[in-house]
Amino acid sequence: MTATRRDGRIHMSTTHKKLAAWVEEIAALTTPDQIHWITGTDEEAAQLNQALVDSGTFIKLAEDKKPNSYYAASDPGDVARVEDRTYICSKDEKDAGFTNNWMAPDEMKGIMRDLYQGCMKGRTMYVIPFVMGHLEADQPMYGVEITDSAYVVASMRVMARVGSAVLKQMEETKADFVECLHSVGAPLAEGEQDVPWPCNDTKYIVHFPEERAIWSFGSGYGGNALLGKKCYALRIASAIAHDEGWMAEHMLILKLTNPEGKTHYIAAAFPSACGKTNLAMLAPTIPGWKAEMVGDDIAWMRFGEDGRLYAVNPEFGLFGVAPGTGWSTNRSAMETIEAGNSVFTNVARTKDGDVWWEGMTDEKPAELIDWKGNEWTPESGEKAAHPNARFCTPISQCPMAAPEYDSPNGVPISAILFGGRRATTIPLVAQSRDWTHGTYMGATLSSETTAAAVGAVGVVRRDPMAMLPFIGYNAGDYVQHWLTIGQKGDADKMPKIFQVNWFRKDDDGKFVWPGFGENSRVLAWVVDRLEGKAEGVESPIGLLPKPEEINTDGLDLTDEQLATALAFDKASWEKELPLVEEWFGKFGDELPVELRAELDGLKDRVSKA
Ligand code: GTP
Ligand code: MN
Ligand code: MN
Repeated sequence: MTATRRDGRIHMSTTHKKLAAWVEEIAALTTPDQIHWITGTDEEAAQLNQALVDSGTFIKLAEDKKPNSYYAASDPGDVARVEDRTYICSKDEKDAGFTNNWMAPDEMKGIMRDLYQGCMKGRTMYVIPFVMGHLEADQPMYGVEITDSAYVVASMRVMARVGSAVLKQMEETKADFVECLHSVGAPLAEGEQDVPWPCNDTKYIVHFPEERAIWSFGSGYGGNALLGKKCYALRIASAIAHDEGWMAEHMLILKLTNPEGKTHYIAAAFPSACGKTNLAMLAPTIPGWKAEMVGDDIAWMRFGEDGRLYAVNPEFGLFGVAPGTGWSTNRSAMETIEAGNSVFTNVARTKDGDVWWEGMTDEKPAELIDWKGNEWTPESGEKAAHPNARFCTPISQCPMAAPEYDSPNGVPISAILFGGRRATTIPLVAQSRDWTHGTYMGATLSSETTAAAVGAVGVVRRDPMAMLPFIGYNAGDYVQHWLTIGQKGDADKMPKIFQVNWFRKDDDGKFVWPGFGENSRVLAWVVDRLEGKAEGVESPIGLLPKPEEINTDGLDLTDEQLATALAFDKASWEKELPLVEEWFGKFGDELPVELRAELDGLKDRVSKA
C-alpha cells in the first residue's frame, strides 16, 4: 500500500488485486474528480470534518458542550430507511422471498449502472476499507465502501473499524471482502455550488446476496448509506450465516451480573425504535444488579467449541434514536455523547451550540433551531427534532460498556428475548417451552410501526425476529434456519427464549409498565429462571411469572397494574390467532411444519383456557 500525490489528487495503490480492479472499475463508471483512500487517522478525520463544515453539511457544536462533535440536517425527504426502495437481487426470485422486493440482478445492474454513470462528477470518491467485528476474529469480516459522501466517511469511522490497518491485513491475507458501493447521486457541474445534503429523488438500496455485494444510490441517510450496518451486517451477513451455519440478528447484547456476582449475557431482538439501545444501556433500579453493554443493535452468533452460542457485536459505534433518550431514561447514552466525537443528524440545536431533542430533558428549552432550520419555541406545536433523529457515537465512550464489546470472538448467550410494541395481548414476559416454541415466538413477533422507516406509524405488523426489513433471503428459509440451529445445538447449552413487551397499555391508554431501568425487574426474573430460582406458572402462551416472583420493591405499581402487565388475556388471544394464521399463510409451502404445529397447539390451548 503506497500513497502518492499527483495533480493534487490522493492516489493509492493496493496490492489487493480484486480491490484495485474494483476501485478502478467504479472510478471509470462514476468519474469522480479525485480518489481518497481512507487511512483512519485523526488528522484525516479533522480535515474531513472541516471540509464538511466548509460545505455546509456539518455545523460544529460548541467545544465546551460537545467536544469534536457535529450537527447535520438531512434533506427533509431523506430521513429514514426506505424499505420500498430496498431490494434483494438474488438470481432466483424465490430466494428473495415474500418479505423482500426483488428484481433480476442483471436488470437491476442495468438500471443502476445508468444511474451511477458519471454520478460522482465534481466530487471525491472515498474508499473505506473496514471490518465488521474484530480484525483479530477467527473469521474477520471485511468490507470496502466506496462513497462520494464525506458525511458517510465521518459516520463509518465511528460505526466500524476502518482504515489502513484493515487494508494491510486484507492485503496480507488476500482476504475477500463485501463490495459496498454508495453514491448520493448528485454530480456537480463545473463551478456548481453544492447543497448541504446532496441526495437524489431516485433511491435504490440493493443487495446481491450471491455476490456478497451492495449497491446504494440516492440517499445519504444512515441505514441506506452506512453500508456496513444494516446492508452488510444484517442483510448480506444473514445470507452468509445461512450458508455457513451461524446467525446474523437484529439484537442487542447485554451483560448482566446478579447480586451473587454471577454473570449472564442476554441478547434481545426488538424492531427498530422499540428499545434495544435503551435496554442495552439499562440502569438497573433493583439493588445489587449490574448491567453492561456489549452491543445495541446487531449480534452475530456462532457456536463456540464448548457448544454454546457466542455473540459478537460487529459494530464499533452506536447509531441511536435520539428522541426519548434523556437523562432520566438513558443516562449512559447521554454520558456517551457528552464525551464528544459524535455526529448528530436531524436533532434540534440550541442557541449556544448544543443539541436538543424531545425527551432529553424534562423541561423544554425556551428557544431552539429545529431540525428543518427554523426558529422553534415550545409553543411552535411541532417537534423540534425529527422522530428518527440519530446520534452516532463511539461505543468505547459508553461508561457502562463491557470490555467484551471489543472481544474478537464474543460472549456466550444464556437467553434471547423477543419484544415489540404491543398495546394489548402480549404480556410483560413469557418463557418459551423450548427452542422450537421460542422460534415460533420470534417468527410471529409483531409490533406497532415507528418512525424508523418511511410509512404509516402505529400499525401492527409482523416482524419475524425483528428482522423483517433485514432478512437477506427467503423468510421461510430464515425461520427454518432458526429451527436448524436449534437442532444442531445441545438443548441444555442453547439460550432460553423469552418474549417481552414493555408497551402494554391500560384502558386509559397509559403504559402499564414503567419500562426503562425498571425493566431490570423483568430481567431479574429471566435470570432467576435460568438459575432455577423462579418457578413461574404455565399458561397457554408460555411460562408466566407468578406476581410475587417480580421484584416490585420501591416501585409505584399496584397489584392490579402488575396483574394487567402479566396477564394472559384469552379474548385478545382469540383475536390474535387469526392474524397469525394470515401471517403464516404468506409463507405458503415454505412454512416449516414445526411452526404450523406450534400454532395448532397454541390454538388448542387457548380454546381450552
Ligand atoms: P433501532 O436503533 O432503530 O434499531 O431502535 P432501538 O430498538 O434501539 O430503539 P431505542 O432503544 O432507541 O428506543 C426507541 C424508543 O423506544 C424511544 O422513544 C424510547 O423512549 C422508547 N423506549 C425504550 N425503552 C422503553 C421502555 O422500556 N418503555 C417505554 N414505554 N418506551 C421505551
Ligand atoms: Mn436497528
Ligand atoms: Mn438502537
